[in-house]
Amino acid sequence: MSVLFTPCNIGEVEIKNRFVHAATYEAMAEEDGRVSDLLLRRYARLAREEVGLIIPGIMIVHPLGNVPGRAIGIHDDAMVPGLRKLVDAVHEQGAKIFFQLLHAGAQTNRQTIGRPPLAPSRTGFNPMYLNRARAMSEEEIWEAVRAFGDAARRAAEAGADGVHLAASGGYLLNEFLSPFFNRRDDDWGGSDEKRFRIVREVIREVKENLSPGMALTVKLTANDYAPGYGMTTPLAARYAAWMAEAGIDALEIASGCTTYSGWHIWRGDVPVKELVRDLPAWQKPAAWVVFRRMVGKFDFEEGYNLRDAETIKPAIGEVPFILVGGLRRLEHMEEVVESGRADFVALSRPLVREPSLVRKFREGKASAASCTSCNKCFAEVVHRRPLRCLASGRES
Ligand SMILES: Cc1cc2nc3c(=O)[nH]c(=O)nc-3n(C[C@H](O)[C@H](O)[C@H](O)COP(=O)(O)O)c2cc1C
Repeated sequence: MSVLFTPCNIGEVEIKNRFVHAATYEAMAEEDGRVSDLLLRRYARLAREEVGLIIPGIMIVHPLGNVPGRAIGIHDDAMVPGLRKLVDAVHEQGAKIFFQLLHAGAQTNRQTIGRPPLAPSRTGFNPMYLNRARAMSEEEIWEAVRAFGDAARRAAEAGADGVHLAASGGYLLNEFLSPFFNRRDDDWGGSDEKRFRIVREVIREVKENLSPGMALTVKLTANDYAPGYGMTTPLAARYAAWMAEAGIDALEIASGCTTYSGWHIWRGDVPVKELVRDLPAWQKPAAWVVFRRMVGKFDFEEGYNLRDAETIKPAIGEVPFILVGGLRRLEHMEEVVESGRADFVALSRPLVREPSLVRKFREGKASAASCTSCNKCFAEVVHRRPLRCLASGRES
């Protein structure tokens, strides 16, 4: 039997196979962040189709860390009943579920949170979010740390099997870790140890709030491709080692996803027309320029995070490693796991197009995903339309 269909543990949580649904923002939550029926259907389906571990899209831990759109909320106790339904829907189909906890940091706008976004340091004008972020006070940093802890408690109350911290995508934790975005000279910046402090505190706070047996995992940016000294792969390896020491149960890596590096996280086509078409007229020219500039710069490559993984995985020793990014062929995924380059393979876009892909792999009915990385699914959620594959026309 293929190694991909053998069980493996993340902490104390046994996952029945090596397939993970990589966190994918769905723009499907209710306006206030509650879990909708659309979300329940989406994840029950993926669980029924044999994905071993489901990580739904970002869940917002604090109202000031919200993103424009319809992300799932975990910032308030009122969210728990819906989150519990989501967990039950996945468990009923035999899969496990981790919640991805996120604070957006600078990557949001005043319209969404009612004031200038928060960041480790004041930033210049951001053409993507049309804002300047403000440096957080000591008190605001602790409030964000506690918000991750409270979100972990809600995840436990909802019955989730684990939580997955987003230290990626250019969001708050990523910004603190990056010397480019974090220019502080107090106890939260100025050296690698101090830049890491917020993550150490968040890990401690989250662990205090998890139920026994729940797992804690992290998605870490391996490189933020900033136009100065930012996150680099060796620095990410250093942070990864500290995360392992702090007791995380698995690590996933990504790269990029700020204004400077938009497409590194997913690579492939930049669907400029689809991205710009439905924006307000006043926003179109700047957006057109930002997206046009990206065209042709992010060629798709199979398993494109493997090179960073080679540097980072050894830093975490025996802690399981989840590889994401451009995994498309079954044989390649098998080879990655068999050769010990990863313990789990995570898929995002392939499961948007084909929710039944894992079952088809097991039944021998498919040997590769049919996703073409056209990235029009991403354009859909940018415009707050529920996630779907435009190529197949099917709602996922
Ligand atoms: C529409 C869309 C939404 C995404 N949302 C998230 C998210 O909520 N959290 C996250 O960590 N990554 C998110 N990602 C990135 C994916 O998890 C994944 O890292 C990336 O798409 C590469 O994997 P793939 O080649 O299997 O698609 C998103 C990607 C897409 C295309």
